[in-house]
Amino acid sequence: MRKNIVAGNWKMNNSLQEGIDLAKDLQKVLNGKTIRCDVVICTPFIHLASVAKEITTIGLGAQNCADKVSGAYTGEVSAAMIASTGAKYVIIGHSERRAYYGETNVILKEKVLLALANNLTPIFCIGEVLSEREAGIQEQVVGTQIKESLFDLSPADFGKIVLAYEPVWAIGTGKTATSAQAQEMHAFIRKTIAGKYGKEIADNTSILYGGSANAGNAKELFSNPDVDGGLIGGASLGVDKFLPIIEAF
Ligand code: PGA
Repeated sequence: MRKNIVAGNWKMNNSLQEGIDLAKDLQKVLNGKTIRCDVVICTPFIHLASVAKEITTIGLGAQNCADKVSGAYTGEVSAAMIASTGAKYVIIGHSERRAYYGETNVILKEKVLLALANNLTPIFCIGEVLSEREAGIQEQVVGTQIKESLFDLSPADFGKIVLAYEPVWAIGTGKTATSAQAQEMHAFIRKTIAGKYGKEIADNTSILYGGSANAGNAKELFSNPDVDGGLIGGASLGVDKFLPIIEAF
């Protein structure tokens, strides 16, 4: 059966030492607690190797990887380099990468392949912007993102992916999707996967919700049958805010 996952996305926050301290503090409070989900933190690249030494039960991830294997790509970080730090996950296709860095479905497809080739679990983000939701075309938008980036994968490879539905209008805005809106989209995503790869793979795919999830709304969001956890931005930057979300399961 699919896993429940709560993943923190630190985005471009924390100095090296602040990140080490946050990871250490989180690991400390989780030790000895009974947790009913996998916990992952996705840090900036510079934290990965150091944070890897501070965590035992927490999974580690990056927030992006290059769409090239290696070589003369100044400023880029490859999936192999990420894996060499001990990280096991990588966020791919976050809406901020799509919007500010021009990442297209075709580029993201390459990134997913490279992540998988290096045994990283992609946390693949999808979601519509406000004008698309207002026009009622959110399912079409999300369906296209999934198909163009992921539907050439073999069933075995698709089975290794985690999806994160993040309505762009809900990210960092304090405006969460309602529990019903989240469930409706997650059910659509699972149905879309089932249509291509069959019910078993669809039922085994973890689909996380992201967008202003917090201690106050996590329980309701996670109680939906098709919501398997969260990708948490702002509320992952403090143990006091992140822990109650983990404990919402
Ligand atoms: P937020 O970010 O929780 O701060 O809205 C979520 C994300 O962008 O992954």
